[in-house]
Order: sequence, then structure tokens, then C-alpha cells
Amino acid sequence: MEYIKTNELRKVYTHGKLAVEVLKGITIALRDGEFVSIVGPSGSGKTTLLYTISGLEPYTGGSVELFGRELSAFRDRDQASLRAKDIGFVFQFYNLIPNLTVYENVLLASVLGINETKAAILKTLETVGMADYASYYPGELSGGMQQRVSIARALINKPRLLFADEPTGNLDYKNGIEIMDLFRRLNVEEKKTILMVTHNEEMTSYGTRTLHMLDGKVIKDERTLR
Ligand SMILES: Nc1ncnc2c1ncn2[C@@H]1O[C@H](COP(=O)(O)OP(=O)(O)OP(=O)(O)O)[C@@H](O)[C@H]1O
Ligand SMILES: [Mg+2]
Repeated sequence: MEYIKTNELRKVYTHGKLAVEVLKGITIALRDGEFVSIVGPSGSGKTTLLYTISGLEPYTGGSVELFGRELSAFRDRDQASLRAKDIGFVFQFYNLIPNLTVYENVLLASVLGINETKAAILKTLETVGMADYASYYPGELSGGMQQRVSIARALINKPRLLFADEPTGNLDYKNGIEIMDLFRRLNVEEKKTILMVTHNEEMTSYGTRTLHMLDGKVIKDERTLR
């Protein structure tokens, strides 16, 4: 099944009277089970593509379908609940809430019923190797550990689809590789479909396919060997 389908997707940002076209007609399709990396120079539109597909940012032309449904046709509440249940998002700078513990950060994202919540949070923290740190605050953790927690937060509602914008961009090499190993495991073992932006060509080898962006367009779409 196609989890993501875009057709001539366009995004224009306006600065006063100046209109800048950041996505210039992007047509891509992602099937379930794929782990796709997006690479390209700074400013080529990678983050904008991820945000428009995931509904974090509106688009200005063309169309996006998620799980076979047109994104623009979702009513606001539908879209919010779709985002909460079927989509997880991982950011470069983790975006954890500093005065909440690891456990509470994941709890905040959970849309589960009260009875299943505690076990689900601890199990998800286990998946990312952070169960022993449930009562820690983000400031007490290394960058790699904070990113693991933010991945747990993205996973708590058992989404089918994970988006990640430069998940290793703020980490040193070793921690970056560990996070990529975790993503590969989520793809292979937990059957998560992943769309990730990265600056680092080496990280594309963890995925199944790489899209190269340049100046608002996808200029190359290649299968990756792993
Ligand atoms: N909120 C915004 N308002 C106006 N212009 C924006 C906005 N966000 C992004 N842009 C512009 O859109 C273009 C693409 O930005 P985007 O963040 O998608 O690039 P990117 O490929 O993710 O770059 P990087 O590798 O540096 O993260 C840039 O020229 C940027 O200035
Ligand atoms: Mg970016």
C-alpha cells in the first residue's frame, strides 16, 4: 500500500511582496516498509517537503495523500488525530520539554487509555534503550539519549509512519550511528515506514531508497543497498 503519495506538490513562501517557490512540483510515492532518506544542499527544501507531507505546514499547490486519503480533505480534528495516531515525528533538536521527566515527556504525547499507558511507556522506553532513565530530566541526559527519548515519544502511539528531520544532525558520529541502527531496527523488525532527511550521505546506507533534492525538486530517486 502507498503510505505517502504526492502529486506536483508545491510550496510558496511569501516575504512581503516577494514570493519564493520552495517546492517546485514534487511527485513521489512511498510504499509501506520503505525507509527513505532525503538528501540535498541546505535550502533545497528538504524540511519543507517533510513538513508539508506530514501536515505540519500547509502547501500551496498539488496534492498529498497519506494512507490513501487526501490530506487537504481531512477536517482539522481528523488531521490532528491522524497525526497523533498514525504518524510520529523526530526533530533534530529533540524538542523535549525540559521540566518534565523522560516518562512525562512520552506520556504527554500518548493518546492511549489510562490503563494501558504506564506499561506502554516503559515498553517503548525499553525499545529505545531508555527504560532505566524514566525519572531523569532531559537536561540530565546526553544528546544521543535525548534523541532516543524523542524517538520513544514518536513511537508511543504505534504509528505506521515515522518522519525524521536530521535526527543525527546534532549528534557526534558514534551517537549518530547508534540512532541510525535504531531506525534500521524499527524499519526491519517493527515494520515502521520511515521518511528521513539527512545531511550525511553515509546515513542513507541505513535506508532502502534515497531521494536527492536540488532547488525545490527531486532530481534523483535511487534504491539503496544495505
Ligand atoms: N517559514 C518560512 N518562511 C519563509 N521562508 C522559509 C520558511 N521556511 C523555509 N523557508 C525557505 O525555504 C527554503 C527551503 O528551506 P528548507 O528549510 O526546506 O531547506 P532545507 O533543505 O531543509 O535546508 P537545511 O539543510 O539547511 O535544513 C529556504 O530558502 C528557506 O529560506
Ligand atoms: Mg532542513
